[in-house]
Amino acid sequence: MSNLVFVSKETVGDETRVAASVETVKKMRTFGLEVVVEAGAGLSSRIPDGEYEAVGARIGSAADAAKADVVLKVRRPTGAEISGYRSGAIVIAVMDPYGHAEALAEMAKAGLTSFAMELMPRITRAQSMDVLSSQANLAGYQAVVEAAALYDRAMPMMMTAAGTVPAAKVFVMGAGVAGLQAIATARRMGAAVSATDVRPASKEQVASLGGKFIAVEDDEFKAAETAGGYAKEMSREYQAKQAALVAEHIAKQDIVITTALIPGRPAPRLVSREMLKSMRPGSVAVDLAVERGGNIEGVKAGKIADVDGVKVIGFSNMAGRVPASASLLYAKNLLTFLETMLNKETKTVAPNLEDDLIKATMLTHGGAVVHPNFLEVQQETAKKGAK
Ligand code: NAI
Repeated sequence: MSNLVFVSKETVGDETRVAASVETVKKMRTFGLEVVVEAGAGLSSRIPDGEYEAVGARIGSAADAAKADVVLKVRRPTGAEISGYRSGAIVIAVMDPYGHAEALAEMAKAGLTSFAMELMPRITRAQSMDVLSSQANLAGYQAVVEAAALYDRAMPMMMTAAGTVPAAKVFVMGAGVAGLQAIATARRMGAAVSATDVRPASKEQVASLGGKFIAVEDDEFKAAETAGGYAKEMSREYQAKQAALVAEHIAKQDIVITTALIPGRPAPRLVSREMLKSMRPGSVAVDLAVERGGNIEGVKAGKIADVDGVKVIGFSNMAGRVPASASLLYAKNLLTFLETMLNKETKTVAPNLEDDLIKATMLTHGGAVVHPNFLEVQQETAKKGAK
């Protein structure tokens, strides 16, 4: 019998995204899978129930999750949601597993086979499943849109009969996926853009988008990229040199957008209160690293904080502020991953435990936490169980 896929309505916080689009539901139906979409799941992403229905989904309620073989979600399921799933169900979401040992143990105990999309390896085969990239790209775009909306001046240079409006100066810190899109977006709006990063590879990318590259380019910088293409945590000495350079540069900027992250570490602190103080009144800063502690001193998660006259935007889930676009890309990432587990003949979904993508993303399976990064969670759980 073919498998049943349940598309959940998100319940956590103000999550606006949904894990399936009209296109992906249609595709799942052509694979022969049954699809039940929880009523209203796509509303915030501008997908009415009727559109899912038109491509062969049934509209159901949260109770339908109990029969699902596969649950597609944006956020990790809550305890209440987990208790509604059957043992053996596959759950795919952004699981935010670090620091949430209890949640992992709970999913293991419920017998779920759970996958964390953000652990997908960044290899060519998995590029179309890379939720970090699909969502960071939109976050970088939206950061500029939010900043422009709060900035009391125009972004592009305008030469008019009534006088000239100068172009806004935008400084992007961290030129990964989000940062590069922020540079491109700010350039499209006509701003004068500069950017910094600690990875030498980013220099050319910034320049190719028309940004001016600013960085301390010493020997440490030349070796700052890991084999995986990520940044390393820099030495205190480098950080001090970087801070001096940034302090001088930032005083002349109107908008600062920070995106700097180091895998597995808190976000590096790049902008101090002193630096914010040196900016003109009406300047705007956006901290996309806020969920990992933030790059900017004084940033407040989920809020716009006034820090010494600068409006510091600390919205978490920036991609969720363009939900209709974010959901389309996220849903496609999930579908492509699901397809790797699909047996087209039996119309069932079963992970191949030897597949590298499965090994990299599977958190819990067969009643245990199985991911190598979280084995201590399993050991703790087993100890508690033995007592
Ligand atoms: P990320 O989200 O981990 O970090 C954002 C940026 O912050 C990075 O460019 C990083 O170098 C920078 N950063 C860290 N510490 C900093 C500091 N102290 N000062 C200034 N900047 C700092 O990175 P993201 O966006 O995930 O990209 C990392 C790399 O992976 C990039 O080279 C990107 O092109 C590459 N990538 C490769 C993919 C693939 O091969 N499939 C897919 C996506 C990204």
